[in-house]
Amino acid sequence: MAPAFEHLLNEIRTLHETDSLVGDFVSFATDLRPIDHSPRHLPCADHFLSEPIFKHAQLPLAKAFYDAAPDAHWLEPYSSNMIGEDFVQRFGCYCVIGESGAWLSDELSAYVVAMPAGLHYPWHHHPAEEMYYVLAGEGIFMREGEPDEVLKPGGCVVHASNQPHALETTHQPIMAYVLWRNHLKDKPVLTERPISAIF
Ligand SMILES: [Fe+2]
Repeated sequence: MAPAFEHLLNEIRTLHETDSLVGDFVSFATDLRPIDHSPRHLPCADHFLSEPIFKHAQLPLAKAFYDAAPDAHWLEPYSSNMIGEDFVQRFGCYCVIGESGAWLSDELSAYVVAMPAGLHYPWHHHPAEEMYYVLAGEGIFMREGEPDEVLKPGGCVVHASNQPHALETTHQPIMAYVLWRNHLKDKPVLTERPISAIF
């Protein structure tokens, strides 16, 4: 395992043990198994690594995600014909704990998600319950049935099972730690929005 990934896992464990909101959402995994993990470079990794707000982030977990980025297996959660080529090029995501990550657990999945300034992550949903914990920058978090929230580093939000949600950046990028619990194998799908919700 790359040393940067071992360090990243330690920082994740520390966050779960020291931040009660994160630890109450899901305790650090007790059943971690290392799995085959090879780096996969995508254009979004270059965007991630060239972002000054990420490079100079203060939170230890943000630094750990930045330092592990060259060793990460970067993901494209949505195809370009589903969501558009621009989004695929600019939306960054890699997994630490989960099927595409370096360890597997039946208790949780753990990712980093990164978006540059001025990007809209459309409405989507999934059976897994989800927590976003902001590590750097800021973003507007939207959840069906609840007011929009602007979150900065240390802020977090929970998406209930199958609750449609979206994320938008304006003048700053965002890096967030993303946790899933329950229904870990079901992928996210874009949410068909009723006309009245779009206009
Ligand atoms: Fe989600």
